[in-house]
Amino acid sequence: MIRLARVEKAYGHGAARTFVLRRVDLEVREGEFVSIMGPSGAGKSTLLHILGMLDGDFTGEYHFLDQEVRALKPRERADLNRRYVGFVFQSYHLIDDLTVYENLEVPLQYRNVARKERQALVADTLDRFGIVAKKDLYPAQLSGGQQQLVGVARAVIGKPRLILADEPTGNLHSDQGREIMDLFRRLNEAGTTIVQVTHSEQNAARGHRIVQLRDGWVERPAAPMSAGQAAAEGPAVAGAETH
Ligand SMILES: Nc1ncnc2c1ncn2[C@@H]1O[C@H](COP(=O)(O)OP(=O)(O)OP(=O)(O)O)[C@@H](O)[C@H]1O
Ligand SMILES: [Mg+2]
Repeated sequence: MIRLARVEKAYGHGAARTFVLRRVDLEVREGEFVSIMGPSGAGKSTLLHILGMLDGDFTGEYHFLDQEVRALKPRERADLNRRYVGFVFQSYHLIDDLTVYENLEVPLQYRNVARKERQALVADTLDRFGIVAKKDLYPAQLSGGQQQLVGVARAVIGKPRLILADEPTGNLHSDQGREIMDLFRRLNEAGTTIVQVTHSEQNAARGHRIVQLRDGWVERPAAPMSAGQAAAEGPAVAGAETH
């Protein structure tokens, strides 16, 4: 479903140029549940935004469902995102001037779900996430954890083929966090592909495999590598030539 080859991203120009992602190769097959871990600043959110087709400013190749993402126009990328991706943002990104109810309706409107069905889906989702009482409030009237719950609800409501979740339980009570992980697990068992970023070993272990990012590099699994291969691939951990 996802194939990245030598993806790099940098900020700034000339001497001030700083790489945030270095030669990232990553494949995610449809139906997989992958956890991305790594220290703060490692590039996890940056990578997730690229995967979600929210950021087209990178080099290298990104194939999503056999489309070369970098060859697409911004509009076409946005369409792919809307059609296939449910994204949980680290900082929620709810729409400020829409109520909780209306925020949940947005992905359904993108998918041309009829009004009646939208109402039923939103009501069901509000109920499932225990936020019925909040439906007419605006994001600024919610606690951080409640905003995060709405963010997760918005990502899953349209039954996307791919869920990309950036620290989806970082602000939740442990029971609520576990419920979200249980939900992801069920969605994954029903066929949804999931890539989550997490600092929690426990949450990471709910996925099939863990990808470690450090200073923009994907850490190689500890498989034996020949010296020549290792030199060609660059440092496995820190990117000494950057910064
Ligand atoms: N607009 C920007 N200009 C310059 N540098 C940026 C910009 N946005 C992000 N960065 C840098 O990119 C690096 C990776 O950021 P990113 O948000 O991907 O980290 P992260 O792994 O998600 O960290 P965290 O666990 O804290 O969320 C950081 O060093 C950050 O300073
Ligand atoms: Mg982040």
